Amino acid sequence: MSHEYVDKILNKHQEKRMALISILHDIQDHYNFLPEEALRGVALRLQMDLNEIYGVAVFYKSFSLLPKGKHSITLCLGTACHVRGGPKILRELKKMLNIEPGQTTQDKQFSLNVVNCLGVCAIGPVMMVDRKFYGEMNSIKAKRVIEKLNKKRSGVKS
Ligand code: FES
Repeated sequence: MSHEYVDKILNKHQEKRMALISILHDIQDHYNFLPEEALRGVALRLQMDLNEIYGVAVFYKSFSLLPKGKHSITLCLGTACHVRGGPKILRELKKMLNIEPGQTTQDKQFSLNVVNCLGVCAIGPVMMVDRKFYGEMNSIKAKRVIEKLNKKRSGVKS
């Protein structure tokens, strides 16, 4: 892996340690996760301990140290979403994608995660796909969202 992109990000943030979280976000946006080699590059340029950087990366749930799918699906299973059918949606997603929460499909298209609240309980059950909220979900609607993304990938117009 070339450090070129990491160098570009660090230059953008003027190699400031204070900007570490923004730097990690930029790296994750580019690679879809935080590759070890990129973190080593950051440690070197910021003259920080690699463990310190890992500490930040594991503290924030928004960072991933493992490769993620192109599309990130986050389902809320907090109380408000749970009582309105969250578990049924999860069953459908697991069946469709053939993965468990925390995993990524073999074709690297989808990652599935569950959380305890997305902060929009009033429109629950809620699913978030690539930072877009889908409220008042049910398993049929969730299936349609995934199918639409799959169609987009294969170039089929819906
Ligand atoms: S409990 Fe699901 S968004 Fe709050």
